[in-house]
Amino acid sequence: MLDTPEAVAEAGAKAIALALKNGARTLVLAGGTTPERCYELLAEMEVVWAKVTILFGDERCVPPDHPDSNYRVAREKLLDKVSPATVHRMPAELGPDEGAKEYAQTIANLVPLDLVILGVGEDGHTASLFPNHPILQATGLVAGIKNSPKPPPERVTLTLETIQAAKQVIVLATGKGKAEAVALAKRGEVPSGMIAGAQWLIDRAAAGR
Ligand code: 6PG
Repeated sequence: MLDTPEAVAEAGAKAIALALKNGARTLVLAGGTTPERCYELLAEMEVVWAKVTILFGDERCVPPDHPDSNYRVAREKLLDKVSPATVHRMPAELGPDEGAKEYAQTIANLVPLDLVILGVGEDGHTASLFPNHPILQATGLVAGIKNSPKPPPERVTLTLETIQAAKQVIVLATGKGKAEAVALAKRGEVPSGMIAGAQWLIDRAAAGR
């Protein structure tokens, strides 16, 4: 457990840089607001970006320049400041079905993924994998969802099995709003807690202290 959100962001950036130094080639970025500071710090670290392929764990079905786009956030906080070999954003503006189908083809030769970064919702979801939702049973590499409880309703997400098969997973959670989700995840009761071996970087508040 770390003291502050800033410490979580720093630990996340360091862990990502280390994994890339140690040979990880595919880096899957998370959506949401929690990783933003981590991305800013990562942009300043020494990383051989020319060897890195950037992917995404989930995307909202909006255009890539939309305020809700996870890609837009990653671009502004990280990707515009570094030069990865390749950036494969999820083409979620095509809609959940077509977007998922295309992205499954994109990552087919890149699995198992080397390093997946994830956030956690207050209900314990991760990526766009929501508790007690049929999306958890989705097969294949990528799935579309049309009734996400977190807006916007239409999204594209890596499936639980794709994330579970990744070589390394880092989960970031900060703030007391996440404390219940973290507790549920520890008991394996929500999707974020269904990834064996994931490394959790959480602050005191998210730990419920
Ligand atoms: C999304 C996400 C989602 C997110 C969590 C946490 O696109 O909405 O990828 O899984 O990571 O909901 O979001 P916050 O970091 O904003 O709390």
